[in-house]
Amino acid sequence: MNQPRVLAEAEYSAAITILRAGGLLGLPTETVYGLAAIATDEKAVRRIYEVKGRPLDHPVIVHIGSIEELDFWGHEISSDTRLLAEKFWPGPLTIIVKRKVIAGDWLTGGQETVALRMPSHPVALKILQELGTGLAAPSANRFGSVSPTTAEHVIADLQDYLDADLDAVIDGGPCEVGVESTIVNCTTKHPTVLRPGAITQEEIDVVLNVKKVELETSHIKAPGLLESHYSPNAKVLLAKDESDLLELMKQIPAKQFVGLIAQEKIGTPNGCIRLAMPQSNNDYAHVVYEALREGDRQILQTIIAVMPEGDDIAIAIRDRLTKAAH
Ligand code: TXA
Ligand code: MG
Repeated sequence: MNQPRVLAEAEYSAAITILRAGGLLGLPTETVYGLAAIATDEKAVRRIYEVKGRPLDHPVIVHIGSIEELDFWGHEISSDTRLLAEKFWPGPLTIIVKRKVIAGDWLTGGQETVALRMPSHPVALKILQELGTGLAAPSANRFGSVSPTTAEHVIADLQDYLDADLDAVIDGGPCEVGVESTIVNCTTKHPTVLRPGAITQEEIDVVLNVKKVELETSHIKAPGLLESHYSPNAKVLLAKDESDLLELMKQIPAKQFVGLIAQEKIGTPNGCIRLAMPQSNNDYAHVVYEALREGDRQILQTIIAVMPEGDDIAIAIRDRLTKAAH
């Protein structure tokens, strides 16, 4: 199959033409690349599910270009919800609210709620604002695998499934954050975090003036919340620290090379191929998916990740690595 077109950042009007014609667009955001279609175009959104191989009852995020659009898609918006949107948008926060009829079943998987997010990546924002309508966009990977953080990742994952005559990817460079947005359920009296991300529970607490907004990963259907997700082909093993890493290495057959993702301060034991050496937790988030992909490109059977410590974005990284390891 032909490779879909890759547009440069400046070619956003070509990208808009593709979306208006019902095509799909690989779209850079500050978190990960999304696979976008005009949210009200049911046929195009259904193709996103086909291309991703994603079950139809898993809802997608509607990306919007202004805070005002919160009221276009959602209703019964609480004052807490507005505070969160005003404080964190544009940025890596997804808000779940009750849906209006315009948010059809093809976006919500038939649920009475809709997920909304205003991304801060300049290419995504420009396209959304010129379009003046929402874009449905899950991460641009096949269902269950690692999210893409570059345009090349999107092509590598989806070129066999995209239509070269209809679809395209716009290259906005590597994503700044590197892990998916924080998801907050605002449909309950007290908002809860459904998926940790760059915006931490603590930051949300400050805005909502609460002690501890809960992390709740139970009742709402969200594939990122399935136990196994974000998985490379290699088997992922988790280590708490350097001595844990050395223990794990003892269990690896002598001839087998193992990929290692660990912060700079952790040494590289014999038999390890360093896939990433992040210098901070933010840097860890920025490189972790590329490192998992690099392990697969090198056809490694095993990747060991030494988990980052802390209660900043490290929580999101530990969450994703735990799911990758499941
Ligand atoms: O950072 C991100 O959020 C990226 C970029 C592209 O914006 N998008 C992303 O989309 O991660 P996706 O589809 O891979 O993950 C979105 C998550 C899914 O777990 C989905 O089930 C959940 O959001 N979700 C969407 N609508 C929901 C709803 N109404 N209720 C509960 N969960 C919902
Ligand atoms: Mg995803």
